[in-house]
Amino acid sequence: MPDALSDADLDLLFREARSFNGWLDKDVSEDQIHAIYDLLKMGPTSANQQPGRFVWCKSKEAKQRLAAHAMEGNKDKILTAPVCVIIGYDLDFHEHLPWLFPHTDAKSWFEGNEEGRRESAFRNSVLQGAYLMLAARSLGLDCGPMSGFDQDATTKEFFADQPRYRADWICSIGYGDRSTIFERSPRPDFDHFNQLI
Ligand SMILES: Cc1cc2nc3c(=O)[nH]c(=O)nc-3n(C[C@H](O)[C@H](O)[C@H](O)COP(=O)(O)O)c2cc1C
Repeated sequence: MPDALSDADLDLLFREARSFNGWLDKDVSEDQIHAIYDLLKMGPTSANQQPGRFVWCKSKEAKQRLAAHAMEGNKDKILTAPVCVIIGYDLDFHEHLPWLFPHTDAKSWFEGNEEGRRESAFRNSVLQGAYLMLAARSLGLDCGPMSGFDQDATTKEFFADQPRYRADWICSIGYGDRSTIFERSPRPDFDHFNQLI
């Protein structure tokens, strides 16, 4: 078994992967959505908190409900995608720690610490969203992440029955139409934003 991904795999995941604005008319199945989740859930979160809460908008009706809260320029990027997932987080993720991190009483670390929970839920759900994009790409799919929408309205619309959940960002998933993307923006060399000490 190789102990590293091939160059072609790295192209698929990083070097050739792009953020897509338009989509080919090709479905993403429920099995593919489950396959993405089954990979992303394996990515590390602190104390295995798993605070991400995901709403996979696949039906036309769900995408319309989501697009209604998006910036004008993002509406079509939601409506024409096979699926658009809302990445949210649970401010009360600690309630699940007794089964998610069973070997110690991690729930007690967060009780009465609303600010600590918010910080941790945000940090770790964003990580889970990154795992989601890499999982989708590794399965041959493309992504179009977006934050240009009304988070509060989307929270109310999709998490009405879960008052401790918050919507954070969204990501269209499908087979990207390369004619809809512009030239790659610059990526800084190592020396620009790194220190190796
Ligand atoms: C969290 C996040 C939010 C973004 N929000 C939007 C958005 O609202 N609308 C949009 O068209 N692109 C959005 N983008 C896309 C970025 O502009 C794009 O990922 C970046 O320019 C890199 O493009 P590339 O992956 O094609 O190189 C967002 C990306 C991320 C990761």
